[in-house]
Amino acid sequence: SIPQRPRLTVLGTGYLGATHAVSMAELGYEVLGVDVDESKITKLADGQVPFHEPGLDEMLRRNLSTGRLRFTTSYAEAAEFGDVHFVCVGTPQKAGSMAADMRYVESAVVSLAPHLTRKALVVGKSTVPVGTAEWVEELVAQHAPAGLGVEVAWNPEFLREGFAVEDTLRPDRLVFGVKSEWAQQMLEATYKGVYELGVAEDREVPTVVTDFPTAELVKVAANSYLATKISFINAMAEVSEVAGADVTQLARAIGYDVRIGNKFLRAGVGFGGGCLPKDIRAFQARADELGVGHALRFLNEVDQINDRRREKAVSLTEELVGGSLDGARVGVLGATFKPNSDDVRDSPAVAVTRRLAEAGAQVTVYDPQGIDNARRALPTVAYATSALDAIRDADAVVVLTEWEEFRHADPVTLGNAVAHKRVVDGRNCLDPAVWRAAGWEYRGMGRA
Ligand code: UGA
Repeated sequence: SIPQRPRLTVLGTGYLGATHAVSMAELGYEVLGVDVDESKITKLADGQVPFHEPGLDEMLRRNLSTGRLRFTTSYAEAAEFGDVHFVCVGTPQKAGSMAADMRYVESAVVSLAPHLTRKALVVGKSTVPVGTAEWVEELVAQHAPAGLGVEVAWNPEFLREGFAVEDTLRPDRLVFGVKSEWAQQMLEATYKGVYELGVAEDREVPTVVTDFPTAELVKVAANSYLATKISFINAMAEVSEVAGADVTQLARAIGYDVRIGNKFLRAGVGFGGGCLPKDIRAFQARADELGVGHALRFLNEVDQINDRRREKAVSLTEELVGGSLDGARVGVLGATFKPNSDDVRDSPAVAVTRRLAEAGAQVTVYDPQGIDNARRALPTVAYATSALDAIRDADAVVVLTEWEEFRHADPVTLGNAVAHKRVVDGRNCLDPAVWRAAGWEYRGMGRA
């Protein structure tokens, strides 16, 4: 039988899990968040989100106070409580390899299963190599008490950092990888709140009901496509640079074709973050294992184009300061992998900063949200508490994350603080005409 409002547990309370737990509680579900990291659970139970995500703090506190949302470190409690168990643990890149590290998925499932006492649905949400759902099903069969009929489903998540709540409550689509009618109905009951929101807004939420491997592949296919689109425009930037063209105008012009679309065509220092880079690598590793590596060879090219853009930002800076970075004072604006986030995982900004420092530059970095994380990732450079402090007396300024604050910075004010008015716009987020009029030597990515 299908409960009207299934009780949900969310295993793993990182970016994905915490957002999912809070959003589902907001829709009226009873939710229990589970993590082995006691400090994370204490923080969340106390109403603090351990990362920066607009709107999430307030929503967390609201749902804690109604009692609908609770947190625990006990898998026994989770098993007792939940009808549906979402697996939201991390699948990071394995050290020294391109593949995904599946140890957290394994340990979540193996920790939960023995405590189960009734039929339940284990739903994978983490981004995983194709074939994982089958493996999770085997793990459940091995570790859950016999005869309960516990089932597995795969339900990938497409949230973007900075828009995580919105993407969870109003998704572009839902994908259900299922093996039974019961599993499908459980997921439909679980997402009833999301469907109702969509309908109220006069917008259906399309749902693709499919098999395990398709559901798993949808996620990595989507992220591979996005990464490819970015590297495509960055490849056009490389060509534009030698041809004397302007990639921003090129992107605008091709983007008017609705088949191409104008999103994800911003050339710059490329993609980073906790998802796109690791996902395209893990996808290649998995395809290799399956003997179909040749089909994804282009993703290696996508990765290399992306990396060359980081190098380009360094060489543009080097050229601007007169040929050698050794001893040059460089003010870097931006550390996070994108604006409105405090995340510096695989951030192009941090990578470029590191290379500038390795080439002998004296670098000072400012970022509106990411300083603490950046300092941990790259302790060897200096950090400032304002843009103006970061660029004071600089021989060159390098913009690496397109925060609003930098887009709207006044080139005259900044110009008065630097030693030399030279700027590398690694995100093509400044207006070259305005900066040049204020006396700056300007270099963008893929445009003169
Ligand atoms: C990405 C996907 O967009 C989500 O759909 C997906 O759910 C998520 O990964 C995930 O797998 O969990 P996210 O990592 O938050 O989301 O970041 P994006 O907004 O996709 O940006 C990724 C990177 O691409 C950023 O470094 C951004 O600066 C860069 N980018 C984006 C460009 O360089 N150019 C563009 O035109 C767009």
